[in-house]
Amino acid sequence: MSRGLNGVQVVSFESRMSQKMERLIAQHGGLPIIAAAMQEISLDHYAEVFVFGKCLLDRQVDVVIFMTGTGTQRMFEVLESRYDKTTLLDAFKRVTISARGPKPMRVLRQYGLSVTVPIPQPSTWREIIEALDLSQASAPLYGKTVAIQEYGLPNEDLIQALKERHAEVLRIPVYRWALPENIEPLREAVRRIIAGDVSLVLITNATQIRHVFQFAVAHNLEQPLRRALERVVIASIGPTSSEAITAYGLRVHFQASSPTMDGLLAEVAQGAEVLIPKKQPATQPLSLSVSSRRSELADSKTLREKSIFMQACHREPTSVTPIWLMRQAGRYLKEYREIRQKVPFLELCKTPELAAEVAVSAVGAIGADAAILFSDILLIVEPMGLSLEYGSTDGPVISGQVASIKDVDTLAEINPQESLGFVFEAVSLTRAALDPHIPLIGFSGAPFTLASYVIEGGSSKAFVNTKRLMYTDPGAWHALMEKISRGLVRYLNGQIEAGADALQLFDSWVGCLGPEDYRKFVLPHTKAVLDGIKPNVPVIHFGTGTASFLSDMKRAGGHVIGVDFRVELDWAWQILGCDVGVQGNLDPVVLCGPRDYLRERVRQIVVQAAGHTGHIFNLGHGVLPQTPEDNVRALIDDVHTLSRR
Ligand code: CP3
Repeated sequence: MSRGLNGVQVVSFESRMSQKMERLIAQHGGLPIIAAAMQEISLDHYAEVFVFGKCLLDRQVDVVIFMTGTGTQRMFEVLESRYDKTTLLDAFKRVTISARGPKPMRVLRQYGLSVTVPIPQPSTWREIIEALDLSQASAPLYGKTVAIQEYGLPNEDLIQALKERHAEVLRIPVYRWALPENIEPLREAVRRIIAGDVSLVLITNATQIRHVFQFAVAHNLEQPLRRALERVVIASIGPTSSEAITAYGLRVHFQASSPTMDGLLAEVAQGAEVLIPKKQPATQPLSLSVSSRRSELADSKTLREKSIFMQACHREPTSVTPIWLMRQAGRYLKEYREIRQKVPFLELCKTPELAAEVAVSAVGAIGADAAILFSDILLIVEPMGLSLEYGSTDGPVISGQVASIKDVDTLAEINPQESLGFVFEAVSLTRAALDPHIPLIGFSGAPFTLASYVIEGGSSKAFVNTKRLMYTDPGAWHALMEKISRGLVRYLNGQIEAGADALQLFDSWVGCLGPEDYRKFVLPHTKAVLDGIKPNVPVIHFGTGTASFLSDMKRAGGHVIGVDFRVELDWAWQILGCDVGVQGNLDPVVLCGPRDYLRERVRQIVVQAAGHTGHIFNLGHGVLPQTPEDNVRALIDDVHTLSRR
């Protein structure tokens, strides 16, 4: 075998085929540094797979595209857990089957299924579309339903191309990617690249480079890594990987002509003499001391305790009033809208690296004094056994009716460590990526607001079903609230363990109740949640429309009570007393009006809060999507200027 790599250090981020890669690099005379950049995580719920299964059996599917071998295998296993195998295979025999490469084909063959439309290499979305357009079995795609077995992020280009052909797309996510559990090899590989030890970096799939950067961003290493990679030869296995590399502003020096590991190594080794001397590793290694960075992190908690946000949570005097905004990472931000064009909302919540990026960049974009975890209060309905979807306009849709004690009993206990691990991962990645002075707020919905979503199946105006259950079957109501509350205690404490500095409990819709109902049907449960949270972490207890039962809300707990704009802040303080902080309460619509008026309203709130310690400025509810970004920055400036003491 060639010795073309001539003793240089070669980094590969391969995971599944790491041993083969190590062998290949060595065979070509290189010194391998192998660091997995990803691991495959099973989804906890296969709602989409079952929806697909039903459509397939109902003859509503025309074409199925199998993208990966593991995904194909998993999909069949999941389908077989619910449907009869013979019926299922008969249904598959009626549709056009397309497969991307030999791996899914092999699995299909084991099931006795043959591929009608094979996809030629390099098997990007372009080849898939071209093959489907040309095959008599699938063309024309107009009006056909095409199901795609997905792995990791959806292939938006493929989906778009299918939609342009007026095909109906059925997405079937089967697993997703995450950073590997043992991050040490990746840390070491990045360290050696930055130190200038490495001459060649091999990228064998697009997720690898994304994960390497996500790791680097989370550990404040993005700039040094980027600079170091400019001095290294980057070789990619094919066009999809190359696109991902160039998306990070890096050059691809070499792309394999056939997308296999053997081909890549043989070609790079052959060209090494020309490629590698041109790109000498840095003579002056960039210094990176992982151990000094670790001790920095240990101290950073102390730094944050002195932040104005944490001081206000503890009702200590602050130099200026701290401010953060509910939904500060949302659609009013251009950067957020750009990410959302590529990634559906739930996918964003379930991809910790992206969630961290969104949360951190929002703080940077507006200059808030605290960050909030990017997630959603409704994610916990999936582990209960319900399914959750976000339509394009109508907000969340939750399926699975909850109207009786029988339904409540059927709901699963929420075990967040098993089912919501991605949230905890998002907390720790966000914490690691944030400026150490900026506190991170974790959150959950409160039992009432969550119960209302579960019962109504989505947002509601009159909460008829919720109240009906409360009044007609209080036993079922309390059982539901208890089940949710038990899960929330575990969920919130898990967020603290993962690195949240403070928490907010969102009881967004509790204001639809009168005081008596609040006391009877809600207070004990919210109290149980708040009492169950580990001490020493400040908790903000937020609700809207709560003016008539503010003192009851305070009895339920929370170091800070969040109020909306329907009350005046000084009046709220009179009711609440001085032993809690108060968060609020500008009407979010004021941000859509003129600047002068905004400043005036900020001044009023600051004046109303004067004389009290423990004020955290916020809106009365989340930032609206139509809010001009500049007004948000102006608001934060105004709060800081007008409250300076
Ligand atoms: O920046 C942040 O505040 C952190 C992220 C966050 C989101 N949702 C992101 C989100 C937080 C803290 C939430 C909490 C949440 N989610 C609440 C309580 C707060 C409140 O507004 O009362 C509620 C009721 C939900 C449920 C929910 N999520 C609804 C009803 C909707 C649809 C309405 C809408 O605004 O689109 C969502 C979607 C949602 N959650 C978005 C964001 C950024 C918009 C989704 C998108 O990008 O299209």
